[in-house]
Formats: sequence, C-alpha cells, structure tokens
Amino acid sequence: MATKMDKVKPKEEEYAEEDRSIDTLLRPNTWAEYIGQEHIKRNLRVIIDAAKKRSEPIDHLLFYGQAGLGKTTLARLVAREMASPMKTTSGPAIEKTGDLAAILSNLEPSDILFIDEAHRLNRMIEEVLYPAMESRKLHIVIGKGAGARTVSIDLPPFTLIAATTRVNLLSEPLRSRFGAILRLDYYDEGDIERIIERSAKILGIDITPEAIKILAKAARFTPRVANRLLKRARDYAEVHKKPTIDGASAKETLEMLEIDELGLEVHDRLLLSAIIDKFGGGPVGVGTLAAALNEDRGVIEEVYEPYLLKLGLIRRTPAGRVAEGLSYKHLDKKTKDQLL
Ligand code: ADE
Repeated sequence: MATKMDKVKPKEEEYAEEDRSIDTLLRPNTWAEYIGQEHIKRNLRVIIDAAKKRSEPIDHLLFYGQAGLGKTTLARLVAREMASPMKTTSGPAIEKTGDLAAILSNLEPSDILFIDEAHRLNRMIEEVLYPAMESRKLHIVIGKGAGARTVSIDLPPFTLIAATTRVNLLSEPLRSRFGAILRLDYYDEGDIERIIERSAKILGIDITPEAIKILAKAARFTPRVANRLLKRARDYAEVHKKPTIDGASAKETLEMLEIDELGLEVHDRLLLSAIIDKFGGGPVGVGTLAAALNEDRGVIEEVYEPYLLKLGLIRRTPAGRVAEGLSYKHLDKKTKDQLL
C-alpha cells in the first residue's frame, strides 16, 4: 500500500530508487554468476577454502580499484561463501572513535565487517582498528585528563573487508594488517558484453548482439557503467516504442547521453581538447591542467585519467600529461606535424 511518504516523494527520487532495486536484481549472487576478475576469484577461493578447512574466519581483506568494478559485490560473495553475516559501513560514516567502538563491540563471532571508502577513515579511527584487526582487542579510553584510563575489551573473531578507490591514501600500518590486498582491474570488453547479456536476460530486455557490442565499447570496461547504459537504452527503446534494442537505438541512446563510441563523456573530451588546444599537446602538469579546467586535481588523477590512460589517449611523463596520436584522431584534430 502506498504511504503518505510515497506520495510526496519527488520524481527523481522514485527513479533513483527504481534504479537501485534493479541494481540489486543484477548483482551476482554466486561465483558462477560473477563474470571476470579471474585472478581475484582464484585468490579468494584459496583463502576461503583454507579458512573453511581450519574452521577459522578468513584473514582481513583489502579490495582496491576504480569505482564500479565490483568491490562491494565481491565482499558480499565472500560473506555468502563463508555463511557469515556482513555488516556494512563506510569511512566517512565513522566520525568518532566511539562510532567504531560501537560497531566493533556489536560484532558476533565470524561476522564480516565491510568498510567502504576506507581511505576516508581518519587517523584516530585507524588507531582503534589496528589492535582490533591484529589481536581482536578494543582499547577504549574512559574519562578525561588525569582520571582517564584505558580499558581493553576482547572482540569476537571477525573479518574486516575494506574497499577503497585510493589505496595510496591508506596508511602503511593499516595496509600491512590485511592478509591479502587485491586489486580489481578494468574488465575485458568480452566480459562486459557477457555482463550486458546477462543483465538483459534478467530484466527481460530484448537486445541485438550489435547493440550489446556498441554499449560494451562505451562502458569504460566497468560493469556499473555497462548496466547503467543498458537501463538508459531500455528507457530509450521503450519511449520510442521499439520492442528490441538494436544497434541504431543503442547509438542514439549514447548520443542523447553525450557519450561517444569510446565511452568518453563531455569532461573527458574537454580534458583532451585542453591538452591539445591550450598546451600544444603537452606535456602539461596536472596542476596546470586542473586550473585550466576548473577541476579538482584529485578528480583528474583518480577519476578521469585512468580510463584515458587505459585507452592510450594520454601518456603520463615526468614533465606532465601528453596527448597521444589517438586523441587527435578521435577528436578529429590535426597534430603539429600535420599543421606544418
Ligand atoms: N554485474 C555487475 N558486476 C558483475 C559481474 N562481475 N558479473 C556479473 N554481473 C555483474
């Protein structure tokens, strides 16, 4: 039954919610359903099988890699495989040491604690985590000033799974306390095609092989992007009363979203154009580039550049970023040699 709250919900939020429930539907629930990242799956199988044989919780795990590559999904699969409940929180949600103390002291034996965006944990929180991870002890300070004392509480055996997009921001003492540090890489294009095919099947979407290829090529080798493009292509086909997503409607969807056939968005093209037009193709320092684009340097380095580097559109050199020949070709611009 619709509640009062449902009725006053803004439209946008309804859409966002629908998207979220679709995401839950598309999430792989078993190893067999999880496509790609073979080396990580192999590593995890060994870690899990060994822990199961010893009837112990698995070692603490750290997953890192670009957003949307499936770090949370993997954590869920590990928890499922270990038949352990997973409690989820995130770096920015844990503001005070007391927040973490509350989470840790509520853990049950063999629980999995998943901390997303672990690079956003502050140092004081990290210091509470060290003994908790290493010797399952929670040290809390009670009182203030001269009367303050530390009490130590034993924690149940638990596993911490942390995920981050920026592993270099984690302190060395924290990193060294994980039993395995696993890097999720971009997916192969073939894997992305299989993911789109699987998602289309689950959602009952009719899509041609050509359309799958077009969407996969623009999906930045990232499952979350692939599924998002599929959902938007479905919307587009529905609105245009097309029962099947074919090559033409896949292309038109991308055009509408201002995404080109390589998956570049407006900001990517602006970045490439800036290197070529404003800085003679580079090298240009990332700080200068950030100022020219009025963009945060961290966003350029961590969000935009990895995909451009992966495609070979730019190169990082000690002197700065350089646009490769492929960028000129893709943006239909002339290189300095061609202009002579
Ligand atoms: N959906 C999102 N990520 C996936 C993956 N790795 N395998 C299958 N479906 C997915």
